[in-house]
Amino acid sequence: MSEQSDMAKVEELAGKVIGDVAGALSLYMAYLGDQTGVFEALDEMGRVSVAELAEHTGMNEKYLHQWLGSVSAAGYVNFHREDETFSISPEQALIFSREGQPACMQGFIQAVVSQYESHEKAVKTFKSGKGRPWSDQSECCFCGTDRFFRPGYAANLTSEWIPALDGVEEKLKAGAKIADIGCGHGSSAILMAQAYPKSTVHGYDFHEPSIEEAKRKAKAAGVDNVQFEVASAQDYPGEDYDFACIFDALHDMGDPVGASRHIRETLKDDGTFMLVEPMAGDSMAENMHPLGQIFYAFSTTVCTPASLAQDVGLGLGAQAGQQRLTEVLEEAGFQKVRRASETPTNMVLEVTG
Ligand SMILES: C[S@@+](CC[C@H](N)C(=O)[O-])C[C@H]1O[C@@H](n2cnc3c(N)ncnc32)[C@H](O)[C@@H]1O
Repeated sequence: MSEQSDMAKVEELAGKVIGDVAGALSLYMAYLGDQTGVFEALDEMGRVSVAELAEHTGMNEKYLHQWLGSVSAAGYVNFHREDETFSISPEQALIFSREGQPACMQGFIQAVVSQYESHEKAVKTFKSGKGRPWSDQSECCFCGTDRFFRPGYAANLTSEWIPALDGVEEKLKAGAKIADIGCGHGSSAILMAQAYPKSTVHGYDFHEPSIEEAKRKAKAAGVDNVQFEVASAQDYPGEDYDFACIFDALHDMGDPVGASRHIRETLKDDGTFMLVEPMAGDSMAENMHPLGQIFYAFSTTVCTPASLAQDVGLGLGAQAGQQRLTEVLEEAGFQKVRRASETPTNMVLEVTG
């Protein structure tokens, strides 16, 4: 080291890293609480002592004592120092224990934990520069991805995003043929099938275990106007679709131009392609905030390796931005790209022509 270090700056950065370490471990503790049902027990029980919580859950009191110390210090649970009891507020419950609520963040947390779980593979991939297929991620990653995205789709897809597209909602209500490409566990396809019973939704994904899970979910939901099939985005079957959509998956594909071209070829002339992608600015400089920090991280260990593992291997990355996505869509032959809607985490592009 040739330069003199500014110790004040070192201390400042060290303080920030300690905060990050605390955060990383708090997510891990939140994951333990989620998987073992402790947050739910706290939500049910109201204010409790460790012994009462241990009795109710049948779990080891010593472990619960340590866990409660960590999550209380994190502010995820309230600690009442006067009688050493614990409680969870309605707001904390929404974040940590109310599955399916838009505010629930356990899916997000599970997706983070899944990346630590396969850290050795991530190091190998990062160093080698080779691709790593989506199928090589862990079960925890597939479930976490679905859990993370589903509440946002439930809150926005049929109430905001589809109504924001030109003339699409009327077609879907009247009965249309829909393709959901890269559908994963099928949450978006099932939501559309439920909202538009006269339409038929075809969910495609090249990852067989995800398609099996999507079929199970459709059966459990009792919807029969949705079908799932293993197929790649570049050559899924069928034609004359009225509406095609991709949810948070185009940038994971090796050949997003080929996939978009196939969508254009299999859409009716007046059909619409709705592309949902992570929110991002058009340059890295615009993404220097916590959301950019998060998306670039997932992109380093999941999205970009998944793309590089496929033919073409374009590796768009999860922060491609509307301008770059528009180039891809225009290269595929589409003529019009419009930002129809957005949330803090997603942009919704209407693609036609
Ligand atoms: C981040 S997940 C999103 C899944 C789902 N759309 C959602 O929003 O929950 C990306 C999905 O794209 C799928 N995928 C990636 N490349 C694909 C390709 N070339 N053809 C079909 N599916 C692909 C993966 O299998 C995975 O299920």
